[in-house]
Amino acid sequence: MVTSVATDHTRMLEKCKTALGFAAHQLNHLTQSYPEFFPMYTVNGKWKHGGEAWTNWCEGFLGGQLWLIYRHTQDTTWRERAEHYCRLIEHRKTDRNVHDLGFTFWPTWKRWYDLTGDTTKNDVVVEAGRTMGLRFKEKGQYLRSFVADESLFIDIMMNIGIVFYAAQQTADANLLRIANQHCLTTRRTLVRGDGSTSHEGIFDTQTGEFLRQTTHQGWRGDSAWARGLAWSLYGFGTAYSFSRDVRFLNTAEACANFYIEHTPAHGVPPNDWDEPNPALPYESSAAAIAASGLLNLSQLTGDAARASFYKGYALRILDTLTEPEFLAIDTPGWEGVLKHGMYHQRKGLGVDESVMWGDYFYLEALSKVVGEIDF
Ligand code: GLY
Repeated sequence: MVTSVATDHTRMLEKCKTALGFAAHQLNHLTQSYPEFFPMYTVNGKWKHGGEAWTNWCEGFLGGQLWLIYRHTQDTTWRERAEHYCRLIEHRKTDRNVHDLGFTFWPTWKRWYDLTGDTTKNDVVVEAGRTMGLRFKEKGQYLRSFVADESLFIDIMMNIGIVFYAAQQTADANLLRIANQHCLTTRRTLVRGDGSTSHEGIFDTQTGEFLRQTTHQGWRGDSAWARGLAWSLYGFGTAYSFSRDVRFLNTAEACANFYIEHTPAHGVPPNDWDEPNPALPYESSAAAIAASGLLNLSQLTGDAARASFYKGYALRILDTLTEPEFLAIDTPGWEGVLKHGMYHQRKGLGVDESVMWGDYFYLEALSKVVGEIDF
């Protein structure tokens, strides 16, 4: 039995290292073929096309992957590329048009700061976090989405870590209040009793009253969009890591339990668990995010049995995602790393394609398993 566990562990490590090596190959092709281009999703497996973006939120995922490959290879060429792609996005630290500055600066400038200890890098991260705080609606107590003042997105839970971080770095009590209140409002209005989540909440901007749940990328307002739930699972874990408010840990675990109970044994959900007979069986980016978030949860939960369960399930997801059905290693001409992702099904954007955030969180989870980055 001990031998079998050890063999399984060795097999997974080898699969994860092979996937990281393949990702390096794909990223080399991407940065050489399309210099200074920030892709979002592929079309027929190709990164560069004229497809609509909908919103401008993916620029951190390329630099973030370059940092992870640098950690994997220790080859300074990757570090130079990572620094270059970081510099290209620095101006976004004051961007008030999107709710995604955590996605933009945490995988990039925060990794750069962690590696160097250079406080000028930290200043960029902190400024981005402070910019995010400007989205707060006192009436309603949430950070508004890019769509409108009345709109709260579950996705913003992935961008709350940088707000907590900026608040702690600057000892800004008001920013800390904003971060905490946003999490509490999201928990109250978008996370349901069964641990499923809604994509969007609509508020009355005059009174702050919560009006209804709705969606853009899920099947319908009362359904469970898989990526949104994965954002919530990971994001509430991050909120707990900063605040130590056990309500946030409980919420992350409720989302984790919903994911695990509703997903087939291979660990990859469809775009929305409630869509009857889904047209496509997989949304691999949700699975990659969940794997990385579950690895975090395995270290955040105080319960040894649950820690082992979350880690085991994360490894099961990665076992599936490192097979050629998902890893594009046997798909000639495909430019992404992970196939079968989904961006916006209703708009027909990035449907059954590679997506930059899917590749990023996949690499992040792989890097955690092989011990190259902390959980
Ligand atoms: N805009 C975030 C997402 O598509 O998940």
